[in-house]
Amino acid sequence: MKKSLMPIFILGSLLINTIGLADETNLMKGKENMKDNKISLGAEVKPMAPAWVIGSYDKAGKANMMTAAWVGICCSKPPCVSIALRKATYTHTNIMERKAFTVNIPSKNYMKETDYFGLVSGRNVDKLSATGLTPIKGEKVDAPYLKEFPVAMECKVINIIEAGSHTMFIGEIMDVKADKSMVDENNSLLPCGLLFNPTTRDYYGVGEQLGKAFTTGKEILNKKK
Ligand SMILES: Cc1cc2nc3c(=O)[nH]c(=O)nc-3n(C[C@H](O)[C@H](O)[C@H](O)COP(=O)(O)O)c2cc1C
Repeated sequence: MKKSLMPIFILGSLLINTIGLADETNLMKGKENMKDNKISLGAEVKPMAPAWVIGSYDKAGKANMMTAAWVGICCSKPPCVSIALRKATYTHTNIMERKAFTVNIPSKNYMKETDYFGLVSGRNVDKLSATGLTPIKGEKVDAPYLKEFPVAMECKVINIIEAGSHTMFIGEIMDVKADKSMVDENNSLLPCGLLFNPTTRDYYGVGEQLGKAFTTGKEILNKKK
C-alpha cells in the first residue's frame, strides 16, 4: 500500500469498527454469528416452496404443463397469484402470447408427473401424451387445467415484472376449481399439495394441522401486562 493512502485506510477501519459494520462483514456464508446462534447460508433461495404445475396453450393450441416452485399468493383483492418463470421455458413464451395460465395443485399421488413436467420442455415433447393426463379447456381463461389434479386456478395475466433471471407473471384468479372430495361442508378447501425443498431437492407432503390462524396468537395479544 502507498504510504500516502495509509491514514485513509486506518481512518476507514476505525469507522467500520465503530459503527458495527465489521460484524455484518464477518457474517459470511458458512460463518457462525455469535449474536443469535445462526449460521449464514448466503444469498440464495433456500426455504421450502410449493410445487405447482402451470398450464398454458402454445400458439398452435397444444396444451403444456410445467412445474414451478417460485410461486405464491400475492394479493387478496383482486385475488392474485404470482409465478416466476425463466424466459427459456416454453410456458414463458405461451403466457406472453395468451396472457393466461392455470395453476394446478398436485396431490401426492401425482408427484412423479409433477416432477416430469419440470424435467422436459413442451417445446420438444407432448408432456400430456407422455403422462396420459387430461387437459381441460379453461372456462374463464385461455389456458388448460388438469382433470386429475385436485385443485386448479384459472388466471388472467394482469402484470408482468422482470425480476432478473425470472419473469414474474401476476395472474388474477378468475376461478378456483376443486374436486368435490377436496372441500368440506362449507366449501372450504381442504389442505393438499406438494412442497419442494430447493436445497435438498426433495418433495414433501402437507403436514398436520397445528392450530387456528388469527386465533392462537391471541394468547399473547390478551396477555395481561
Ligand atoms: C420442483 C421444480 C420446480 C421448478 N420451479 C421452476 C420455477 O419456479 N421457474 C422456472 O422457470 N422453472 C422451474 N422449474 C423448471 C421447469 O419446470 C423446467 O425448465 C421445464 O422443463 C419447463 O417446461 P416448459 O419448457 O415446457 O415450459 C422447476 C422444476 C422442478 C422439477
